[in-house]
Amino acid sequence: AGTIMTTDVVVVGSGPAGAAAALLLATLGVDTVMITKYRWTANTPRAHITNQRAMEIFRDLGIEEQVLADATEHSLVGDTVFCTSIAGEEIGRIRTWGTRPDREGDYRLASPCLTVDIPQTYLEPILVRNAAQRGAQTRFSTEYLSHTQDAGGVTVRVLDRLTGQEYGIRAKYLIGADGARSKVAADIDLPFEGAMDIAGSMNITFKADIGRYVAHRPSVLYWVIQPGSNVGGIGAGLVRMVRPWNEWLIVWGYDIAEEPPVVDQAAAVQIVRNLLGIPDLDVEITGTSLWGNNEMYATLLQRGRVFCAGDAVHRHPPSNGLGSNTSIQDAYNLAWKIAAVVKGHAGPGLLETYSAERAPVAERIVKRANKSSREFVDIFAALGVLDAKSEAEMAAAIEERKANTPAGAAKRAALVRAMELKNYEFNAHGVELGQHYVSDAVVPDGSRLPEPERDSDLYYQASTVPGAHLPHAWVGDNAHRHALMDLAPYDRWTLLTGIAGEAWERAAEAVAEKLGIPLTAVVIGPGREVTDLYYDWAKVRETDESGALLVRPDKHIAWRAATLPGDPEEALMRALVSVLGRN
Ligand code: FDA
Repeated sequence: AGTIMTTDVVVVGSGPAGAAAALLLATLGVDTVMITKYRWTANTPRAHITNQRAMEIFRDLGIEEQVLADATEHSLVGDTVFCTSIAGEEIGRIRTWGTRPDREGDYRLASPCLTVDIPQTYLEPILVRNAAQRGAQTRFSTEYLSHTQDAGGVTVRVLDRLTGQEYGIRAKYLIGADGARSKVAADIDLPFEGAMDIAGSMNITFKADIGRYVAHRPSVLYWVIQPGSNVGGIGAGLVRMVRPWNEWLIVWGYDIAEEPPVVDQAAAVQIVRNLLGIPDLDVEITGTSLWGNNEMYATLLQRGRVFCAGDAVHRHPPSNGLGSNTSIQDAYNLAWKIAAVVKGHAGPGLLETYSAERAPVAERIVKRANKSSREFVDIFAALGVLDAKSEAEMAAAIEERKANTPAGAAKRAALVRAMELKNYEFNAHGVELGQHYVSDAVVPDGSRLPEPERDSDLYYQASTVPGAHLPHAWVGDNAHRHALMDLAPYDRWTLLTGIAGEAWERAAEAVAEKLGIPLTAVVIGPGREVTDLYYDWAKVRETDESGALLVRPDKHIAWRAATLPGDPEEALMRALVSVLGRN
């Protein structure tokens, strides 16, 4: 029963994955209906760390300024503190998210954007607003119930929660971005590894101006070591900035094997006062919730015309700040492929590369986030508080780090090592940026990704080996500066070359015409569209000046030519026909 409306794509969910998918598809002119169960977007701050790759996506979409306007800026996210309470003793700090001067160089060399902090409550409305402005239909209070797929499309059954009426939406494709308890993923029976609900966490949001305790050591994360702070949770007690410096979120763990705790007003106030170390603090509690920590990823992300993205396929603690970032990047990988198939630019085989490319990313981030969460134990061990039976014992153990004794010296040395290890959570640039794709949407050129020179979790190594992300360099002229990525916008294919490779321009025009796809060549060099301002492009391209990089809409290298071949049109045509699955 019920009417059937038709569209190209139904997106279930308005979280980072779903809202980004709707925005990306709408930007590409694909008819999209985004449905979401509740009346509005996320009602708690949840994910917040927004890394360089996510910011690049916003830059590509032309919404970077809107995001920055609502974000806490990069310079305020760096002084992550470990302490016994906010007002209490400090155990140490770590410069996070690429703010330590030596690491800041790595981050700035890798991207035109820097990590900022924007809670989901602020980010989702930006994504949804722009998606709707660009033509996506958005249906709130609309619940996904079920679907069936056949050779021609997908029929999605939904419930209008206002009227209680069910209706159907007929689409070519369905994207399940419906979060960690995804019904879409269950309905297509995706295979998963790992477990859900391995630890318990509670969130408490509150308002209190504590600027005088934190503004001189600005960060979004203040980790608190207190009795109970290694039980459940995400590694330690956390006081997280939502807005500087008067809106906050506490994450406090509980034993998931026990009855869930009752977090009433009085309990919430007490936890806040304990973690802040201010017994008489005037605090306004604005919300509480319980949530489970997961360690689970799907090994296949799609079945036929149905795809899953975001937490639906990777479920993990917030450590490393990868949840919302990876969800947005999933959508970025998928949307251009769907658009290419819907518009007849590519064969349906291109869609199969979504899972091939993103499932390994899902596994990597789930494992990294959980490892980082567990590595907090090193700090507890270094302080010698793991076996402390009482608050007094814990305080005494922490106090011992001050002693001029062998035990005190050993503690100080252990703390140096334990703090160093936290770089894997807070400066894991390789995990954040180093996604390399192997799939049929990449044409290998016989070369292999260079062996990492440094730890591949901590350090990102740029490369143009097919499958790698386009490296960053600034180009432009005497009046403008562009990032390389700006030359290769999301709505087209781009061929980057130098002056000796000018013949690629005509080749690209011919291939674009024959295949009927958007493809532009950009020649970088003096007197051309842009010049290699700092002579960095010449260093990062790893090809001769006459060679070329074929950049996909999502900025990964689809194919490269080391030098200009005898017949560039034929070479480019062969590469694109292969990537697009056109025969
Ligand atoms: P997300 O869960 O955001 O969105 C799912 C969407 O699907 C929602 O819009 C929902 O309404 C919709 N939906 C679900 N079922 C539906 C149905 N049947 N029909 C229609 N719509 C349906 N991460 C982090 O980095 N730092 C943090 O502090 C936190 N904190 C945190 C707290 C809590 C309580 C949770 C639950 C999660 C976090 N996270 C987090 C994780 C982070 O929020 C998460 O990684 C991203 O939101 C994932 O984005 P998605 O879009 O994939 O799912």
